Amino acid sequence: MTWNVMITDVSFPDIRLEEEELKKINASLVRLNCKTEQDVIQACQDADALLVQYAPITADVLNQLPRLKAISRYGIGVDMVDVSAATKKNILVCNVPDYCIEEVATFALSLLLFLARRIPTYQNDVSNQRWNLSDIDDAHRVNRIRGQILGLVGSGRIAQELAKLVTALGIRVVYYDPYVKVSPLDGMSSVSFEELITTSDFISIHCPLTPETRGLFDERVFQAMKSSAVLVNTARGAVVKNCALEQALRNGWIAGAGLDNLEQEPPDWNDSLLSAPNLVVTPHIAFYSEESLKDLQRLTAQSIADLYRQNMPEGLLNPELFPGFLQRMRSHE
Ligand SMILES: NC(=O)c1ccc[n+]([C@@H]2O[C@H](COP(=O)([O-])OP(=O)(O)OC[C@H]3O[C@@H](n4cnc5c(N)ncnc54)[C@H](O)[C@@H]3O)[C@@H](O)[C@H]2O)c1
Repeated sequence: MTWNVMITDVSFPDIRLEEEELKKINASLVRLNCKTEQDVIQACQDADALLVQYAPITADVLNQLPRLKAISRYGIGVDMVDVSAATKKNILVCNVPDYCIEEVATFALSLLLFLARRIPTYQNDVSNQRWNLSDIDDAHRVNRIRGQILGLVGSGRIAQELAKLVTALGIRVVYYDPYVKVSPLDGMSSVSFEELITTSDFISIHCPLTPETRGLFDERVFQAMKSSAVLVNTARGAVVKNCALEQALRNGWIAGAGLDNLEQEPPDWNDSLLSAPNLVVTPHIAFYSEESLKDLQRLTAQSIADLYRQNMPEGLLNPELFPGFLQRMRSHE
């Protein structure tokens, strides 16, 4: 029996690589543009497997897709998929764990340095025909990078890659990660969340979006941070309360922020956050390079092809289901 594979939604120009991978298992492939739960329920009734970018795959959706066996997420974060509901329904869920580690780490570093060296402020000066070093006010003050402290929220793959890069610049690294008990990298020390926010000169967020991390950076946290601190978020927008961040930037509670993710994507273009001072926003693009994009498209489809061939994919998030899945596949042979 061949599988019907459906792409619920994807923003990439073409799906040639997915087609190539899935042709190898004779699967049919349909590209959809689902935005809501209802869209997915209506369009994916015959799906054996889904490739998902941002469409919401909630418990409700999972309960109404009778044939569904597997979901593969285009990316690392799986916050749009209810993984525990999928697990209860014996649906395997995969992500692509390591296609863009270097891309996101170098992007976070770029945002950090751009803001720490106050490039937006100085660029703005030149646009306003200001070429003057005689009156360095708070908005223009820069401290030497070497010796400053970077606090990482989360200590997984991207955080560790960033730690390696900044160590070469003489930046000291601390991290907060309640799920890692052993120091993941030499020279990185584990601290409490309170210590991280109050002592770090730069904070970079690299945890997943979960009920625990949603809204973690709120008004209290911004008030506790150093007024010279820079925040970088390349993880998920909803880890930061956008209205609290806007207040922090407008009131000078922190010195700047670089965001690749917002609470709402794409944003409301009238959102006043977007015009806050010392803010750089990019459109959820940290993962992107020509090479990482190709890897992402191929590997997302390959996970489904692997499962069809009864091989365990590298990014399987509920491996405990795999033995039962094999039994069901073999009983249909
Ligand atoms: N902007 C982009 O283009 C882009 C691209 C890839 C990944 N991401 C995001 O980056 C995040 C990190 O990716 P990764 O590959 O390093 O993931 P990873 O799974 O390797 O690491 C995540 C780390 O976060 C930790 N963590 C979990 N809950 C936490 C909490 N409450 N507080 C602090 N730490 C916590 C985990 O223990 C783990 O060590 C992903 O979850 C994804 O959402 C964004």
